[in-house]
Amino acid sequence: MALPRTVDWQGDAATGRLVIIEQTLLPSELKLLELSELEPVIDAIERLAVRGAPALGVAGAYGAVIALRAGLGDAGLEKLASARPTAVNLRWGVERVRRAAKGDPERALAEAKAIDAEDVRTCRAIGEHGAALIQAGMGVLTHCNAGALATAGMGTALAPMYVAHEHGRKFRVFADETRPLLQGARLTSFELAENGLDVTLITDSMAAVVMRDGKVDLVITGADRIARNGDAANNIGTYGVATLAKAHGVPFYVAAPKSTFDPELAAGAQIPIEERNARELRYIGTVRTAPDRVKVYNPAFDVTPAGLISGWITEDGILKAHEIADWLAR
Ligand code: MRU
Repeated sequence: MALPRTVDWQGDAATGRLVIIEQTLLPSELKLLELSELEPVIDAIERLAVRGAPALGVAGAYGAVIALRAGLGDAGLEKLASARPTAVNLRWGVERVRRAAKGDPERALAEAKAIDAEDVRTCRAIGEHGAALIQAGMGVLTHCNAGALATAGMGTALAPMYVAHEHGRKFRVFADETRPLLQGARLTSFELAENGLDVTLITDSMAAVVMRDGKVDLVITGADRIARNGDAANNIGTYGVATLAKAHGVPFYVAAPKSTFDPELAAGAQIPIEERNARELRYIGTVRTAPDRVKVYNPAFDVTPAGLISGWITEDGILKAHEIADWLAR
C-alpha cells in the first residue's frame, strides 16, 4: 500500500504523538496531522479527520495515552470516549487502555500498540475469510469507507476485495459516493484506485439501477456497532442498500471485527445514533446547497436489520445470525 498509515504513534509514552492522515482533505491533499494534546485529538475525531470504527478504536487508545500522561483522569477519558457515540470501538479502545494502564503511561502505550497490531491482524483475517465470496467477473458494491482509511490495517469491507485482488481475481467494485460527507467518493474510490482495483463511483441513488441491470453480485459494507442479534449500524444509506439488495436477490454481507460487536445490546434499536451538524446538508464543502431557514435532519448512521444480512465476515470466519451470541461469549 502506497499510502501512509491511517493512524499511528511516533515516539515514547512521555513525549510521543498520535499521527493520523487528515482525511477531510482527501483526495485533494495527503497531509499528516501530529497530535500530542487531548483536545486536538477529540477535535480530529469530531471533524472526521480520523474516522471509521476500527481506526477510532486505535485513535482512542493512543488518545487515552495522551490523556493519562497529561493527568486528565476519568473526565478526560470520558470526553474522549464520547466524542462519537455510535462506533463502539472508540469507547472500547479507551477503556482497554484505561484498564491496562493502572495510571502508568508506559503500560498505556504498550496496550495501545497491542490494539493497533491486533487491528492489522484482524483486518487481514477478515480479508482472507471474505475473499472466498469474491469470484472473477463479479460486481461488488460497497457503501461509505470501510477500507485502510477506516482501520489501522487493510480495512474491513474492503479487505476481502484487497485479498481477492492479491489472488489475481479480476472484478469490479461499485463505490456509493455516500452523502452527505462523501466517504465513498473521497476515500473509497481514492484508496481502491491507489491500490490498482477496478472501481466505479456511483451516487447513492444509482445503486438500484446498477443492481436491476445485473451489475452487482455481492454487497459488502462495514459496521460501526452490531447488536447481539446481528442488527448492524453503519453509515447512513446502508439500510437502503441492504433493502435494495434483498429486492434484487443480491447477497449483502457486513464485515467487522469482534470489537465492533456490542454484547451489551440485544438489538439494533438500542444503538445510539449520532446526529451531526445541519451545515453538512446545507453545504457541499464550502458551496451552499440549502438556505439556513430550512430544517435539516442529519443522522450519521442507520441500522440494517439482521434479516437483510446474509452473513457477518469476522476475523474468525463468516458467521450466520444464530452463531453470533455464542461467538461473542467465547
Ligand atoms: O462517519 P464515518 O466515516 O466514521 O462512518 C464510517 C462507517 O460507517 C464505516 O463503514 C464503519 O465505521 C466501518 S469502518 C471499517
